[in-house]
Amino acid sequence: MNKVKKIPFTDIEKFIDILADAYPGIGITTPEDKKRVKERFRKRSKDKRMSWWGVYRGSELLGGAIFYDFTMNFFGNKVLAGGLGTVCVSLVHKKEHVARDLMRFYLRHYRKREATFSVLWPFRPDFYKQMGCGLGSTNHVYKVKPADLPRGKSKKNVRFLGKADMKALNDCYNRYVDRHTGMIEETLVNRKIRFDLSKETKFVGVEKKGRIEGYMIFSFVRGNAANFVDNHIKVSEMIYETPEALSELMTFLHTQADQINRIIFHTDDPDFYHYVKDPRNDSGNLAEPVYHESHVSGVGIMFRVLNTRQIFGILEKHNFNGQTLRLKLNVRDSFLRENNSSLVIHFEDGRPFLKTKNAAADVTLELNIADFSSLILGAVGLRSLFQYGFARISKPDYLNRLHRLFATEEKPICTTSF
Ligand SMILES: CC(C)(COP(=O)(O)OP(=O)(O)OC[C@H]1O[C@@H](n2cnc3c(N)ncnc32)[C@H](O)[C@@H]1OP(=O)(O)O)[C@@H](O)C(=O)NCCC(=O)NCCS
Repeated sequence: MNKVKKIPFTDIEKFIDILADAYPGIGITTPEDKKRVKERFRKRSKDKRMSWWGVYRGSELLGGAIFYDFTMNFFGNKVLAGGLGTVCVSLVHKKEHVARDLMRFYLRHYRKREATFSVLWPFRPDFYKQMGCGLGSTNHVYKVKPADLPRGKSKKNVRFLGKADMKALNDCYNRYVDRHTGMIEETLVNRKIRFDLSKETKFVGVEKKGRIEGYMIFSFVRGNAANFVDNHIKVSEMIYETPEALSELMTFLHTQADQINRIIFHTDDPDFYHYVKDPRNDSGNLAEPVYHESHVSGVGIMFRVLNTRQIFGILEKHNFNGQTLRLKLNVRDSFLRENNSSLVIHFEDGRPFLKTKNAAADVTLELNIADFSSLILGAVGLRSLFQYGFARISKPDYLNRLHRLFATEEKPICTTSF
């Protein structure tokens, strides 16, 4: 019988052994590497949102993961979201349902604590989708020549940032969190820990009167291995609050053109190709009839609703696009059966009112928890789910109204790596 419990620090080396085998790509091989990871865990444990959990059979550790108590923006509401990371199972105990038991425990752990979402980065989306997690939005990797970025009038407010600037930087980040669904708040403690741990990254910010209005965290990446002066800049985090801040950051990058081959951006911005003079990347690929490859997109972050009923309580002040209709919503959840839900919600001028199970409804919508999780956050439209056959509607002539009900201006974004 598998039992999930917090890993005492005395067992952390066993966890690191399992982790090292589960992620050989990270390169934790020597005793020194393992010591380094242990030290890293010790430092990171100062971030009280993190906890280490293990699956035990007797006293044997079979696998584990790290849980994160995150605060996430959900349409302007700050909600608890349980993050899951570093999932690993001992090579000799794979396919014994260790991950499944851990996953169920984790979901229940956060459901009991009234968290709204579970959130994770999947090693394989299908593995977690069958456990009810829905995909968020895609992220795009651009490789732009510095000279193709707009050169503005000035970069006079741009300067390197140090550890003492982490508060102002983090305030800028958290103001951005306040404006975007899916974003996770960052603590100053963790920001400083990450600053100390990131040896090769550079921090540049746009500061006006002591306030950081935009910043970029970047590192250099080697271009042609046989040419040491061929280098790219890889931007791992970029936030800007005003067009002026963006312009100064871009002007800073533009002025690196004589030394830097490409600027690599990872962005959630679906419109970014409109901003760059020549958005083509360095692949030279052309798709029919004449589409120049500009960026490569990926799927990643996944969200899972932990309590479907609770969602409509949290969103009691949310405006579902002014719609008025009476909806019966059936959300199937085979992995977390207590969340199998059949709800009646009356929307009046966009406001949701939860009714009793047998209250009248104009239309019934039925879908599974993974798709519902993506839908409620605006990561996918109902029209698509209906076309794919994933959402069933009792009266299909309600499709457009139901689509509008769940439509959002923006897709959810998340830049927190964990
Ligand atoms: C990926 C990894 C964690 C899987 O661990 P595992 O313990 O072997 O996985 P499990 O045995 O629990 O397999 C998942 C089970 O859940 C079951 N399951 C999934 N969804 C389910 C659902 N909705 N209802 C019931 N069961 C479900 C699957 O069917 C499977 O069981 P089966 O093999 O009997 O079909 C492990 O291989 C590993 O450590 N990999 C390397 C590191 C890694 O990539 N980690 C993930 C990081 S995000």
